[in-house]
Amino acid sequence: MLNICKTRGINTEIICVDTWLGSNDTLWLDPNYRGALRLKNGYPSIFRQFVYNMIKTEMIDSVYPLPMTSTAAYYLLKRFEIQAELIYIDAGHEHDEVYTDLSLYYNLLRPGGVMVCDDYSAGWPGVVSAINQFVAEKKLPMTGFQAKSAFVKPVQGNCSKPRVPGCKIQLILRQGEPYPARPNSRGDDLKPSLRAFCRRSPQWSRR
Ligand SMILES: C[S@@+](CC[C@H](N)C(=O)[O-])C[C@H]1O[C@@H](n2cnc3c(N)ncnc32)[C@H](O)[C@@H]1O
Repeated sequence: MLNICKTRGINTEIICVDTWLGSNDTLWLDPNYRGALRLKNGYPSIFRQFVYNMIKTEMIDSVYPLPMTSTAAYYLLKRFEIQAELIYIDAGHEHDEVYTDLSLYYNLLRPGGVMVCDDYSAGWPGVVSAINQFVAEKKLPMTGFQAKSAFVKPVQGNCSKPRVPGCKIQLILRQGEPYPARPNSRGDDLKPSLRAFCRRSPQWSRR
Protein backbone atom coordinates (compact mmCIF):
# COMPACT_ATOMS: atom_id res chain seq x y z
CA MET A 1 0.00 0.00 0.00
CA LEU A 2 2.80 2.37 0.94
CA ASN A 3 4.64 1.53 -2.29
CA ILE A 4 1.57 2.37 -4.33
CA CYS A 5 1.20 5.68 -2.50
CA LYS A 6 4.86 6.50 -3.03
CA THR A 7 4.82 5.75 -6.76
CA ARG A 8 1.80 8.04 -7.07
CA GLY A 9 3.36 10.88 -5.13
CA ILE A 10 1.03 10.61 -2.17
CA ASN A 11 2.76 11.65 1.01
CA THR A 12 1.14 9.26 3.42
CA GLU A 13 1.60 7.60 6.77
CA ILE A 14 0.11 4.29 7.81
CA ILE A 15 -0.91 3.22 11.29
CA CYS A 16 -0.72 -0.59 11.52
CA VAL A 17 -2.93 -2.13 14.18
CA ASP A 18 -2.26 -5.80 14.83
CA THR A 19 -1.55 -8.01 17.80
CA TRP A 20 1.09 -9.70 15.63
CA LEU A 21 0.02 -12.88 17.36
CA GLY A 22 -1.39 -14.43 14.19
CA SER A 23 -4.83 -15.43 12.98
CA ASN A 24 -6.61 -17.96 15.14
CA ASP A 25 -8.40 -19.34 12.06
CA THR A 26 -5.40 -19.96 9.82
CA LEU A 27 -1.96 -19.72 11.40
CA TRP A 28 -2.93 -21.34 14.68
CA LEU A 29 -5.37 -23.93 13.38
CA ASP A 30 -3.86 -24.96 10.05
CA PRO A 31 -0.70 -27.07 10.49
CA ASN A 32 0.46 -25.97 7.02
CA TYR A 33 0.70 -22.35 8.17
CA ARG A 34 1.70 -22.81 11.79
CA GLY A 35 5.40 -22.34 11.05
CA ALA A 36 4.68 -18.76 10.01
CA LEU A 37 4.00 -17.95 13.68
CA ARG A 38 7.73 -18.43 14.38
CA LEU A 39 6.95 -19.52 17.92
CA LYS A 40 9.60 -18.83 20.54
CA ASN A 41 8.76 -20.62 23.78
CA GLY A 42 5.18 -20.80 22.58
CA TYR A 43 4.93 -17.08 21.72
CA PRO A 44 4.77 -15.76 18.12
CA SER A 45 7.60 -13.54 16.89
CA ILE A 46 5.85 -12.12 13.84
CA PHE A 47 6.40 -8.56 15.02
CA ARG A 48 10.18 -8.91 14.78
CA GLN A 49 9.80 -10.04 11.18
CA PHE A 50 7.49 -7.09 10.49
CA VAL A 51 10.03 -4.63 11.88
CA TYR A 52 12.81 -6.28 9.86
CA ASN A 53 10.72 -5.99 6.67
CA MET A 54 9.93 -2.33 7.35
CA ILE A 55 13.59 -1.49 7.93
CA LYS A 56 14.76 -3.47 4.89
CA THR A 57 12.26 -1.83 2.55
CA GLU A 58 12.96 1.62 4.07
CA MET A 59 9.33 2.14 4.98
CA ILE A 60 9.96 2.49 8.66
CA ASP A 61 9.54 6.26 8.73
CA SER A 62 6.03 6.11 7.32
CA VAL A 63 4.70 3.23 9.40
CA TYR A 64 3.36 3.44 12.95
CA PRO A 65 2.71 0.07 14.60
CA LEU A 66 0.20 -0.35 17.38
CA PRO A 67 0.74 -3.90 18.66
CA MET A 68 -2.55 -4.41 20.46
CA THR A 69 -6.08 -5.61 19.81
CA SER A 70 -8.13 -3.58 17.38
CA THR A 71 -10.54 -2.60 20.16
CA ALA A 72 -7.74 -1.36 22.43
CA ALA A 73 -6.14 0.52 19.53
CA TYR A 74 -9.46 2.14 18.67
CA TYR A 75 -9.74 3.75 22.10
CA LEU A 76 -6.14 4.91 21.91
CA LEU A 77 -6.57 6.41 18.43
CA LYS A 78 -9.77 8.07 19.56
CA ARG A 79 -7.89 9.71 22.43
CA PHE A 80 -5.36 11.01 19.89
CA GLU A 81 -8.28 12.26 17.74
CA ILE A 82 -7.01 10.43 14.68
CA GLN A 83 -9.19 10.66 11.57
CA ALA A 84 -8.14 8.46 8.64
CA GLU A 85 -8.76 8.87 4.95
CA LEU A 86 -8.58 5.14 4.37
CA ILE A 87 -9.10 2.26 6.77
CA TYR A 88 -8.37 -1.31 5.70
CA ILE A 89 -9.85 -4.01 7.92
CA ASP A 90 -8.33 -7.50 7.93
CA ALA A 91 -8.15 -8.72 11.54
CA GLY A 92 -10.53 -11.25 13.11
CA HIS A 93 -12.79 -13.05 10.61
CA GLU A 94 -15.78 -14.04 12.75
CA HIS A 95 -19.01 -12.06 12.43
CA ASP A 96 -18.78 -10.35 15.81
CA GLU A 97 -15.11 -9.45 15.39
CA VAL A 98 -15.66 -7.86 11.98
CA TYR A 99 -18.85 -6.08 13.03
CA THR A 100 -17.10 -4.62 16.09
CA ASP A 101 -14.14 -3.43 14.02
CA LEU A 102 -16.45 -1.82 11.47
CA SER A 103 -18.58 -0.11 14.13
CA LEU A 104 -15.60 1.27 16.03
CA TYR A 105 -13.35 2.25 13.14
CA TYR A 106 -16.15 3.92 11.20
CA ASN A 107 -15.90 6.62 13.88
CA LEU A 108 -12.25 7.18 12.95
CA LEU A 109 -12.98 7.54 9.23
CA ARG A 110 -13.16 11.07 7.88
CA PRO A 111 -16.32 12.00 6.03
CA GLY A 112 -15.49 11.16 2.42
CA GLY A 113 -12.98 8.56 3.59
CA VAL A 114 -12.95 5.00 2.31
CA MET A 115 -13.35 1.80 4.34
CA VAL A 116 -12.00 -1.37 2.69
CA CYS A 117 -12.52 -4.86 4.10
CA ASP A 118 -10.52 -7.91 3.14
CA ASP A 119 -11.89 -11.42 2.53
CA TYR A 120 -15.39 -10.46 1.43
CA SER A 121 -15.91 -13.90 -0.07
CA ALA A 122 -17.80 -17.17 0.38
CA GLY A 123 -14.86 -18.69 2.27
CA TRP A 124 -15.38 -16.17 5.09
CA PRO A 125 -19.13 -16.15 5.89
CA GLY A 126 -18.64 -14.19 9.11
CA VAL A 127 -16.89 -11.39 7.22
CA VAL A 128 -19.62 -11.26 4.58
CA SER A 129 -22.52 -11.27 7.06
CA ALA A 130 -20.94 -8.59 9.27
CA ILE A 131 -20.24 -6.25 6.35
CA ASN A 132 -23.68 -6.81 4.86
CA GLN A 133 -25.31 -6.06 8.21
CA PHE A 134 -23.22 -2.93 8.76
CA VAL A 135 -23.81 -1.36 5.35
CA ALA A 136 -27.52 -2.22 5.50
CA GLU A 137 -27.88 -0.55 8.91
CA LYS A 138 -25.99 2.54 7.77
CA LYS A 139 -27.64 2.51 4.32
CA LEU A 140 -24.26 2.73 2.61
CA PRO A 141 -23.75 1.78 -1.05
CA MET A 142 -21.02 -0.87 -1.08
CA THR A 143 -18.69 -2.07 -3.82
CA GLY A 144 -17.53 -5.68 -3.82
CA PHE A 145 -14.58 -6.76 -5.96
CA GLN A 146 -11.84 -9.39 -5.90
CA ALA A 147 -12.82 -10.63 -2.44
CA LYS A 148 -12.79 -7.10 -1.05
CA SER A 149 -15.60 -4.76 -0.14
CA ALA A 150 -15.46 -1.00 0.10
CA PHE A 151 -17.70 1.91 0.94
CA VAL A 152 -17.38 5.64 1.44
CA LYS A 153 -18.38 7.47 4.60
CA PRO A 154 -20.97 10.02 3.53
CA VAL A 155 -20.15 13.70 3.33
CA GLN A 156 -23.27 15.61 4.36
CA GLY A 157 -25.55 12.80 3.35
CA ASN A 158 -23.90 12.07 0.00
CA CYS A 159 -22.80 8.42 0.11
CA SER A 160 -21.11 8.14 -3.25
CA LYS A 161 -18.85 11.18 -3.26
CA PRO A 162 -15.41 10.71 -1.72
CA ARG A 163 -13.98 13.84 -0.06
CA VAL A 164 -10.97 14.07 -2.38
CA PRO A 165 -12.12 15.51 -5.74
CA GLY A 166 -11.89 13.05 -8.62
CA CYS A 167 -11.37 10.10 -6.31
CA LYS A 168 -13.72 7.34 -7.33
CA ILE A 169 -13.52 4.30 -5.18
CA GLN A 170 -14.00 1.74 -7.96
CA LEU A 171 -11.28 3.38 -10.03
CA ILE A 172 -8.71 3.58 -7.27
CA LEU A 173 -9.11 0.02 -6.24
CA ARG A 174 -9.91 -1.74 -9.46
CA GLN A 175 -8.23 0.09 -12.27
CA GLY A 176 -5.46 2.00 -10.56
CA GLU A 177 -6.77 5.50 -11.24
CA PRO A 178 -4.19 7.95 -9.83
CA TYR A 179 -5.16 9.30 -6.45
CA PRO A 180 -4.70 13.07 -6.22
CA ALA A 181 -1.48 14.03 -4.48
CA ARG A 182 -1.83 16.03 -1.30
CA PRO A 183 1.37 18.00 -0.84
CA ASN A 184 2.25 19.13 2.66
CA SER A 185 -0.15 16.65 4.20
CA ARG A 186 2.54 15.06 6.34
CA GLY A 187 2.26 16.24 9.89
CA ASP A 188 -1.32 17.32 9.54
CA ASP A 189 -2.71 13.84 9.29
CA LEU A 190 -0.88 11.99 12.01
CA LYS A 191 -0.88 13.80 15.30
CA PRO A 192 2.67 14.52 16.48
CA SER A 193 1.73 13.09 19.87
CA LEU A 194 0.84 9.73 18.32
CA ARG A 195 4.03 9.77 16.25
CA ALA A 196 6.08 10.28 19.40
CA PHE A 197 4.09 7.62 21.20
CA CYS A 198 4.78 4.98 18.53
CA ARG A 199 8.45 5.84 18.19
CA ARG A 200 8.95 5.17 21.89
CA SER A 201 8.78 1.46 21.16
CA PRO A 202 12.24 -0.12 21.68
CA GLN A 203 12.18 -1.88 18.30
CA TRP A 204 11.77 1.46 16.61
CA SER A 205 14.41 3.38 18.53
CA ARG A 206 17.03 0.65 17.88
CA ARG A 207 18.16 2.06 14.52
C1 LIG B 1 -5.35 -12.44 7.90
S1 LIG B 1 -4.12 -11.68 8.87
C2 LIG B 1 -3.81 -10.22 7.95
C3 LIG B 1 -2.58 -9.49 8.32
C4 LIG B 1 -2.24 -8.32 7.40
N1 LIG B 1 -3.41 -7.53 7.06
C5 LIG B 1 -1.56 -8.81 6.17
O1 LIG B 1 -2.19 -8.87 5.11
O2 LIG B 1 -0.38 -9.18 6.29
C6 LIG B 1 -5.04 -11.15 10.25
C7 LIG B 1 -4.21 -10.43 11.30
O3 LIG B 1 -5.10 -9.90 12.26
C8 LIG B 1 -4.51 -9.98 13.53
N2 LIG B 1 -5.63 -9.97 14.47
C9 LIG B 1 -6.59 -10.90 14.64
N3 LIG B 1 -7.48 -10.50 15.54
C10 LIG B 1 -7.08 -9.27 15.94
C11 LIG B 1 -7.59 -8.32 16.86
N4 LIG B 1 -8.70 -8.52 17.56
N5 LIG B 1 -6.92 -7.16 17.03
C12 LIG B 1 -5.78 -6.92 16.34
N6 LIG B 1 -5.25 -7.78 15.45
C13 LIG B 1 -5.90 -8.94 15.26
C14 LIG B 1 -3.66 -11.24 13.51
O4 LIG B 1 -2.55 -11.13 14.35
C15 LIG B 1 -3.23 -11.31 12.04
O5 LIG B 1 -1.95 -10.76 11.87
